[in-house]
Formats: sequence, structure tokens, C-alpha cells
Amino acid sequence: MSDTPGAQWNAGETEADAKLHLLSPSEEMAKLGQGMRPLIAYGEGIHVVDAHGRRIIDGPAGMWCTQIGYGRREIADAVSAQALKLSYNSPWYTTNSPSAELARRIAEVTPGDLNRVFFTTGGSTAVDSALRFTEFYNNVLGRPEKKHIIVRREGYHGSTSLTASCSGRSFNWQNFDIASPRITFISCPNIRLAPGLTEAQFLDQLVREFEDTVAKIGPDKVATFLAEPLQASGGVIIPPKGYHARIKAICEKHDIIYISDEVVTAFGRCGEWFASEKVFGVVPDIITFAKGVTSGYVPLGGFAVSERLIAKVSGENAKGSYYSNGYTYSSHPVSCAAALANMDVIEKDGILKHVRDVAVHFAEGLRSLKGLPHVADIRVAGLVGCVECLVDTSSPEVTDRDKKVGGRIDTHCFDLGLLVRPLGNVCVLSPPLIITKAEIDQMIGILRQGILKAAADLKEPVAA
Ligand SMILES: Cc1ncc(COP(=O)(O)O)c(C=O)c1O
Repeated sequence: MSDTPGAQWNAGETEADAKLHLLSPSEEMAKLGQGMRPLIAYGEGIHVVDAHGRRIIDGPAGMWCTQIGYGRREIADAVSAQALKLSYNSPWYTTNSPSAELARRIAEVTPGDLNRVFFTTGGSTAVDSALRFTEFYNNVLGRPEKKHIIVRREGYHGSTSLTASCSGRSFNWQNFDIASPRITFISCPNIRLAPGLTEAQFLDQLVREFEDTVAKIGPDKVATFLAEPLQASGGVIIPPKGYHARIKAICEKHDIIYISDEVVTAFGRCGEWFASEKVFGVVPDIITFAKGVTSGYVPLGGFAVSERLIAKVSGENAKGSYYSNGYTYSSHPVSCAAALANMDVIEKDGILKHVRDVAVHFAEGLRSLKGLPHVADIRVAGLVGCVECLVDTSSPEVTDRDKKVGGRIDTHCFDLGLLVRPLGNVCVLSPPLIITKAEIDQMIGILRQGILKAAADLKEPVAA
């Protein structure tokens, strides 16, 4: 394994180094240093190639981020040119041209008046910074008590202390100190958890719960509602139609800032630059983004905030304040140059329209899996979808046994040439946006085989 693109390493040495020295996200600590995650050598289009030379379809697009696919020279050239021209400048007291241009280009495609952009280093810092903006905002306005944040169970917003505290996936909390009396969780908008209710009844129930929660905390104390348009890591949970707009109306009534966390959905995942307004019918006060902004080539994130909010804490209204939240790598010139090149590719190749075109085919393909053994639910929006599998499909309860079934499907799919995001009992597909209809068929075909193989395994009982 030496004459493949980017392979200047020795797989054996890499494995030894990783086993001895690497601590990875979601590391199973009992097995630290023993096993080895699949070693990826290089990427090409929608494929990654492992250390044995096996081409594997990148079903989750890395971590929902490799929008334009691997190996695009335009991005490599932009990164190289910018690194040679200006590799770094401090955003604390200087500025650079790629970040100013990128801020303008993002403002041009955000909904409403979300025209002021702050850059961070990724999704967690984007959400963290947006939340800190709301703290800053209410402090400058002289309302220090308006600090509560309402979030949903099964939401995921990142891995800083504050964003992890706002994430409603209890798996991520184990053995970490997650606590904040100013964070309140409300229901996950998954209709499977409300058997017997119509979508309209479920929506009314969710809206009532939000209203009651605001009333209980006290509207003067609630600063922010933070939500993904669709709960991605929570298992591709798509709320009932109209959910976001109805929650936003309540937020407006009580002067609560609505943050739409588009770290997954922005930059084309649902066929639009941003999904909040065009796909989910809501114009938020703040939108966060990361991942697809650079198609994962280099780290970058950020948030765009409404001019209306900015006006209340700037100029004559600033009261001597500084928005002193920031990072050494905010507005990083190389990352911003990569993002500009990424936006150029998305425009030049018509990728947003392509997503809208192939999304129907993707949805039909996923829905064709309904009726296979253990398939309990199929959820899909744009080019993100999932198959939820349960040993007993008649029960909404998810057990450890169900998670093992999901794990088996993922393993079979990997052996058959498809990476599936391992998310318990939910098999997630969110491929690079350049995927063709034929490649979608191939991907769904492998998933079908993976499910059938896992079902056959199940005939031999899965250990509880
Ligand atoms: C909706 C959402 N917000 C925030 C994050 C955190 O982003 P990052 O991992 O880049 O810090 C993620 C990561 O998956 C996410 O899905």
C-alpha cells in the first residue's frame, strides 16, 4: 500500500502509532490500544479507500460534511494558494480578505436579515459562540436574568461544555459533568414516540409543551430556543410540518432568540444553502453552520445573526461593550479560502439543484426497504435519511438488543463496500452531495443486503 494518492505512510506503523498514542472521539476505553478502527488511506469522489485498497462508498459523507466529495483540486489549490499568500493573521486586531468575502457570500444566501457572520473553528464552537452571543445580548440589554435555554431531547449541538450540556443524547453524558440549571429539555419531535396521535395532534402537543415550559420558567427568564431543523445525530428525526414556525411565533411573542443549528443541514444537504426557511418554513434569529461550509477539507464553522439583534447591541446601543468571545483561528484565511472555493464548486456544478433532483430517487430507494425484516421506520429529507431497525417493530422502545442489530447491519454493509454511520439501531445515510442516481441504487442495494444478512443472523439469537 504505497503507490496510492496520499499514501506516504506505512499501514503497520500507523496502526502501532494509533494504538499507542491516539485517543479518538467515542473511544471505548476498555479497549483502548487494542483494536483499530478502519484505516482510511485516501478519498476519491464519493468513495474512501482503505489500507487494503478496498473502495467503500462514504455513506455518511464523513461526518455529514464531505458535500462536494474527495479529491477536488479546486479546494486543494485554494488552500495551497492562500497558505502561501497569507497563512494566518490575528482576527483580534487585523482582518483578511477571504473572511470578509466569505461573510458577504454567506449573508447573501442566509434567510431574512441574517447578515452579520462570526467565524469559529467548527460546529461546537459555532453553537457555543451563538449561545454566548445571546448571553452577551441580554446582558447588554440589561436583562441578566434572561438566560434560560430550551433544547430538545435527542438533539446534538456539540462537545464544548455548554453545547454538550445542551445536547439531549444521554449517551454523550456518561461520565462527563453535564449540568446547568439554566438548560431545560423538551420532547424530541419524533412521532414514533407518540403512538395513536395524528401528525397535527402531535404538533399541537409539542407546541403546548413549549408554551407551558416557557410559562413555567417565566418568559422574562427564557433567552433562547436552540434546535436543529432535523435532529441529525439523534437519528434523523424530522419534526411535524409547521413545527419550527409555530415555535418561532411563540419565541417572537416572548422575545426569545431562536437559534437554528444548521451544522448538518446547511450547504446543500437538503438542496438549499440553508434549510431553515426554504425547507422547514422558519426564519431564525441566528443560524449556525460548519461541516459542509468547507466540505470537510479544513475546519471552519460560524454563525450568522440578524441585523435586528445586532442593532440592539451595537452603535449607540453598545453601552461600551465588546463581543469578546473569539478564537485564535476565528476568520482563518486558509479555511475561509477553502470555503469560498467550496461555494464556487457548489455553484459551478449546480449541486443544490442536483440534490433536489436526486433526493426523490434517494427517498424512493430508502422507502423501498420498508417491509424488510426489522425495519421499523424510514425517515428522509433531502440527501439525509435513515432506516430505524428494531427486533420487535411493533414497539417504539429501543433496547440494547436493537442497537446490536443496527451494529450488525453496519458491519455487513462495511464488508459489502458501504460505510454506514453507526448510530445505535438507526442506520444513517447522508452521502456526498455529488452522488448519482446509479450510485444511490448501489448504496441502497448494499443496505438492503446488510439488513437481510443481519436478519439472518438474528435467527441465531443476538446476545442481550
Ligand atoms: C447539529 C450539530 N451541531 C453541532 C455539531 C458539532 O460540530 P463539531 O463536531 O464540528 O464541533 C454537530 C456535529 O455533528 C451537529 O450535528
